[in-house]
Amino acid sequence: MNNSAAPRIAVLTGAGISAESGIRTFRDSNGLWEEYAIEDVATPEAWQRNPELVTRFYNMRRMHLAEVMPNAAHYALAKLEQHFPTVVITQNVDDLHERAGSKNLIHLHGELVKLRSVKGLGTSVHVGYEAVEYGKRNESGDLLRPDIVWFGEAVPLIEPAAAYFAQAEIVLVIGTSLQVYPAAGLLHTAPHGSKKYYVDPSDYSGQPIENLKHLKEPASKALPKLVDELIALLV
Ligand code: APR
Repeated sequence: MNNSAAPRIAVLTGAGISAESGIRTFRDSNGLWEEYAIEDVATPEAWQRNPELVTRFYNMRRMHLAEVMPNAAHYALAKLEQHFPTVVITQNVDDLHERAGSKNLIHLHGELVKLRSVKGLGTSVHVGYEAVEYGKRNESGDLLRPDIVWFGEAVPLIEPAAAYFAQAEIVLVIGTSLQVYPAAGLLHTAPHGSKKYYVDPSDYSGQPIENLKHLKEPASKALPKLVDELIALLV
């Protein structure tokens, strides 16, 4: 966090915010989970069974990052943070929020550009957009694995994320189908009186929530307008 004030705005983003940058979502038609089975590439058991396949899956996604750029939605959130204490909590493992300039950022589900020891959390190794071979080790000799939170694993940063949501005046939830917990539950930890926005071209399919304003548009269209409105409202 680069801002000592408590965030007034808490943002949760999902794959949809990066869709217009050319990164596939998971559950839309042509989503990643149509082509790959979660249990083959995104679980601890998959890693035990076939770590080379898992390594190739994340290599492909990591290398693709070199070919994509942040879009207007990522930049709009970075602009919001310049005006108000804002925290962006992303389910995305891409690095487009940081490349757009967001500083107060939590990667709930890990980061493609990093590997970590199979022994646990702790210092990760930055590998950028390179393919890596299975068997790579850190300086202590520990085997490295993708720094990704897989299905069936605990989400280590959910507590600070929930604490930010619980004190926010405004929450924005952008480009997520809200099918995966605990991230999907964050919206429900926001205070009753807070303003709540959901930006997604699809119908809202999360748990019902009061006073949720649904902007049913692509993020790159809705976010720049919404951010300008919030800046005018909050100054
Ligand atoms: N702008 C905004 N939203 C969009 C856009 C767009 N241009 N295009 C698609 N979307 C929306 C879809 O309507 C859908 O609601 O993005 C959402 C993508 O949903 P998912 O594919 O389920 O992605 P997400 O919710 O981020 O998945 C959560 O599941 O597979 C795991 O760990 C993975 O972090 C991921 C988690």
